[in-house]
Amino acid sequence: MTSQLRFLMCAPDHYDVDYVINPWMEGNIHKSSRDRAVEQWQNLHHILKDHAIVDLVNPHKGVPDMVFTANAGLVLGDTVVLSRFFHKERQGEEPYFKEWFEQKGYTVHELPKDLPFEGAGDALLDREGRWLWAGYGFRSELDSHPYIAKWLDIEVVSLRLMDERFYHLDTCFCPLSGGYLLYYPPAFDSYSNRVIEMRVAPEKRIAIEEADAVNFACNAVNIDNRVVMNKASEGLKKRLADAGFEIIETQLTEFLKAGGAAKCLTLRVTEPVQVDRHATVSVESRTIRLEGHLLDSGLINRALDLVVENGGSFQVLNFNLGEQKQSTSMAEVKVSAPSHDVMEAILSTLIDLGAVNLPQDERDAKLEDVTQNGVAPDDFYVSTIYPTEVRVNGEWVKVEYQRMDGAIAITQTPKGLVARCKLLRDLEVGDRVVVDVIGIRTIRKTESREQRNTQEFSFMSAGVSSERRVELVVEQVAWELRQIRDRGGKVVVTAGPVVIHTGGGEHLAHLVRQGYVQALLGGNAIAVHDIEQSMMGTSLGVDMKRGVAVRGGHRHHLKVINTIRRCGSIAKAVEQGIVTGGVLYECVRHDIPFALAGSIRDDGPLPDTQMDLIKAQEEYAQLLEGADMVLMLSSMLHSIGVGNMTPAGVKMVCVDINPAVVTKLSDRGSVESVGVVTDVGLFLSLLVQQLDKLTSPYHFAKTV
Ligand code: ARG
Repeated sequence: MTSQLRFLMCAPDHYDVDYVINPWMEGNIHKSSRDRAVEQWQNLHHILKDHAIVDLVNPHKGVPDMVFTANAGLVLGDTVVLSRFFHKERQGEEPYFKEWFEQKGYTVHELPKDLPFEGAGDALLDREGRWLWAGYGFRSELDSHPYIAKWLDIEVVSLRLMDERFYHLDTCFCPLSGGYLLYYPPAFDSYSNRVIEMRVAPEKRIAIEEADAVNFACNAVNIDNRVVMNKASEGLKKRLADAGFEIIETQLTEFLKAGGAAKCLTLRVTEPVQVDRHATVSVESRTIRLEGHLLDSGLINRALDLVVENGGSFQVLNFNLGEQKQSTSMAEVKVSAPSHDVMEAILSTLIDLGAVNLPQDERDAKLEDVTQNGVAPDDFYVSTIYPTEVRVNGEWVKVEYQRMDGAIAITQTPKGLVARCKLLRDLEVGDRVVVDVIGIRTIRKTESREQRNTQEFSFMSAGVSSERRVELVVEQVAWELRQIRDRGGKVVVTAGPVVIHTGGGEHLAHLVRQGYVQALLGGNAIAVHDIEQSMMGTSLGVDMKRGVAVRGGHRHHLKVINTIRRCGSIAKAVEQGIVTGGVLYECVRHDIPFALAGSIRDDGPLPDTQMDLIKAQEEYAQLLEGADMVLMLSSMLHSIGVGNMTPAGVKMVCVDINPAVVTKLSDRGSVESVGVVTDVGLFLSLLVQQLDKLTSPYHFAKTV
């Protein structure tokens, strides 16, 4: 068997580092010694000749990397898939390798132009011949994998490379005989690591450390139980010995300067075909279309980045650039993913950006029956805040009750088909739920550069505003509040107890009194401390005027709760003249509905606090309906809850001293949300001042 084994090598007559196409070559141009390179190459040649036949392909001037024959192509049986080099520096090698294979009688397959694949550098057979491991991410394109599977009639397992130092699969991955695998896990994305772990049992995985990886320990030639490589640490030698392998070290430092070592310098040209193995690929492709101000808004970059970040790859098939400033652009992009799961993940993010399938690929949404109340089918599509449509019986149906993190249920009603977002708990047997990512589209407003610049919230949409921008934000929010109030719109406030502790209570009360707030959402605590302040002058036992803790003050809030419980409700306490000021007082006086959602830490609670969380969520959802703006004041949980219930298009202002909260909430990918990192008491006081300015007769309103 071993005597049949053949390798292809190419003498380093013209080898040098002439250009930089990988990180190893950087700083090494013309730094390798020809003599040493020749000597090292010959040593490797000798070692291999002891165990196999070594064929030679003639070296050529002008293609110094031709020594790395692993990149000639990929051989299985008498078939070869030729390499298509990613870098033009190496493309000159292609005809020489092609000629060699043709002369030797191989059936030669060539990939379409512009579909890079770098041969056995990026494709390694499992040593039992069960499947082909194929890398992508730097040199080879994922879309080459289906061709390889078809031509070589083998299962292709795609692995995504993440570390540019390990730009070819064979620099960080080496299948060994007996089902062992020598590899460097950090070179792969997490999905690929999972795929590897699913195929190779733990006791067969020899994961190496970075120190060995950078010595190209994975770039090894395996012949039966021998492993030929540049260098290995003592630890690695021992581990390989324990697994029954003998390491043959042979220095290849001159080739490391070009980013290659033992394996790169060789190509196994005898790879037996396993007759019982056949082609399968899990690579999937879809073509999507994006329309809008793709360049202006950065949408196209974001979309393509998302594809790659999520483990896929893309090809832009068409790009029509809108000619006028106001005209929109259109892109058709072929998206590929190593598996259906990854494709779903990618497509759902693209759908969020407004991507649609090409009309010719347009299909109805896939529906599955709910078979257990409160439980969705496994693969259900998770709804987002964006207005969504689903295609049922050839027609696009608008989804009602749009919100995040629900399922989309389709029901037949006397009025026709209805699609709506439903929470898992609300699903019922008889509902049909949208699964997969087919036949779903979201409608995104396309904003041109001009529109974005003139939108009221645009200047702050770039992320979280810093302290010095607080005043600017306050001005804008005041302006918005004023407009919404004047046109009879709806502002919902969610507030945490910090509003009261920081002295913002009186300002929020003022906003309610002035008609700027149409609903209030919060927990037990905001109400308790608000009333505590009104009844006892303290908030959580701290005197709000003097800012010092009052003796026995920690009991104040319990006394307050007790009093309100005696009255039966906050409204009754107001009626009875027990509560005479504050946020909740103003709500009661002005008929502003509020919902208080309970939590595990609540004392009391107040009679108004809804301790049934499902009911509390429903109350929140009801009060949020039709909102134009949500002001989120220092309450992480209530604000996140509200954010999930609120569809895109509603302006959201999130104020919190903790930047993490602000980022989380204002990062909805739409211009309508803005975050302000600041003290909420200060924010409210500035806001009230600003509103008063707007109403003062001396102020020249912006509309003038
Ligand atoms: N300088 C060559 C390149 O960057 C090195 C190729 C190494 N070959 C390999 N199979 N890893 O393409």
